[in-house]
Amino acid sequence: MSILVVGARGMLGQDVVKAFSSDYRVTSLGHRDLDITDQNNTIRVIKKLNPNIVINCAAWTDVDKCESYTEKTIAVNSLGPKNLALACREIDSVLVQISTDYVFDGHKTTPYVEDDPPNPQSVYGKSKLLGEEHVFSLLDRYFIVRSSWLFGENGNNFVSKILALTQKINELAVVYDQVGSPTYTLDLARAIAELVQKNDYGIYHITNNKSCSWYGLTRDILEIAGIQGINVRPIPTKELKRPAARPAYSVLENRKWQSTGHTPLRCYPEALADYLRKHP
Ligand SMILES: NC(=O)c1ccc[n+]([C@@H]2O[C@H](COP(=O)([O-])OP(=O)(O)OC[C@H]3O[C@@H](n4cnc5c(N)ncnc54)[C@H](OP(=O)(O)O)[C@@H]3O)[C@@H](O)[C@H]2O)c1
Repeated sequence: MSILVVGARGMLGQDVVKAFSSDYRVTSLGHRDLDITDQNNTIRVIKKLNPNIVINCAAWTDVDKCESYTEKTIAVNSLGPKNLALACREIDSVLVQISTDYVFDGHKTTPYVEDDPPNPQSVYGKSKLLGEEHVFSLLDRYFIVRSSWLFGENGNNFVSKILALTQKINELAVVYDQVGSPTYTLDLARAIAELVQKNDYGIYHITNNKSCSWYGLTRDILEIAGIQGINVRPIPTKELKRPAARPAYSVLENRKWQSTGHTPLRCYPEALADYLRKHP
């Protein structure tokens, strides 16, 4: 089986390449190797490589900047997946499209299941939903994997930012009114490798187990890393005045993952402890 990973130099992309490398022939293409917004070239390159499965880890993930650069956001997050789906259709490959909890509005108070109606509140969320729609309207054999609050060794993320801040300041103001499930890219990458072994195509929510607020996550990071003397102040989202709206509640129930016979991913504090051991 041959696998093509695009967006392969990103935080998730690098772990996906590793997760597949022992059992598959993997070609990894970063942004410089393949720009997924270039339709003709994307189709040409993918037809030439002729992989069995394409995994799209490419995206523009700067949620706040996306608000001011709609055209670029749509090009990367919506038309990129469309181009990949068109290529996969020509060579009858499976496409794995990574998506996000930000497709939901966050008004629920219980975990979102895969067929809850999406209602994104940001340009980023809208562009990711449009990407999903292109994939499922063009292909029969696809996996759309929605995950949330990613942290991993190969990218700037909330956990690494908090750790860096504790070197400089001793008071952190962190929002308490956004709740989600932090997810370790290593666990997500392994789950994707497990997912593609069966033909149960469709939309999946895959996250680490348990949920928290960003404030709660910050306290967990400090506790697990054994960092003392930092005052963490809980603040409401509105105090941050960020350009993009975030869902207040975006916990994803991993319903399809479990109903198709997969074991729930470990709880996020366990994954976080593992990450912090490797990335002190
Ligand atoms: N980060 C999160 O908390 C989070 C949460 C839920 C879902 N997700 C989803 O998870 C996936 C992976 O995210 P991540 O956190 O690993 O993001 P990331 O670290 O920003 O990686 C994305 C990669 O895509 C590349 N890329 C950007 N534009 C491209 C283009 N036109 N053609 C090809 N490659 C391009 C980027 O390269 P350059 O940097 O060189 O542009 C980067 O290497 C994305 O689909 C994202 O929407 C992320």
